[in-house]
Amino acid sequence: MIPKIALLILVIFGVSCNSREEITRQQYVVEGMNLYQTNCANCHQVDGSGLKDLYPPLAKTDLWQRVDMNTLACLLKNGQKDSIRVNGKVFNAYMPGNAKLQALDIAEIITYMREKWSPNKSIFSLDSTRIALKNCP
Ligand code: HEC
Repeated sequence: MIPKIALLILVIFGVSCNSREEITRQQYVVEGMNLYQTNCANCHQVDGSGLKDLYPPLAKTDLWQRVDMNTLACLLKNGQKDSIRVNGKVFNAYMPGNAKLQALDIAEIITYMREKWSPNKSIFSLDSTRIALKNCP
């Protein structure tokens, strides 16, 4: 049996096969989706809608105007315990860090999140992620 992921990649390849960067981006999106579902969806939900006052939404939010990509990379790795205002609603909760996530995982998750929810759908590269993680506060 062919694994689901291989099928997905095949389908995506078939639909569009432009440049090398676009192929890499689409691979990141597929891997990022799996990583998101394993590591994030239990709190933020598969569709990114969040959960009541506990977990902020990631879909349809002002996140992309408010938070830069370097901060986002550090947040996924190290978690966050802040008072934040998402779409005007205050969340004051604790997101644990995820030490398991490597730079490539984070690049893939961010690229997936952008594909799903950001107006900017470009890849967030492994190099950019490495630099961001090196400079986390
Ligand atoms: C245990 C539950 C939990 C898990 C797992 C979790 N988060 Fe969070 N996340 C939170 C909470 C709670 C906050 C709000 C933190 C605060 O108030 O500072 C948050 C905040 C965020 C924010 C900031 C939102 C904003 O608008 O500023 C982003 C982005 C985010 N999480 C993405 C992720 C991603 C991607 C993953 C998986 C790698 C993940 N989270 C895993 C609970 C979780």
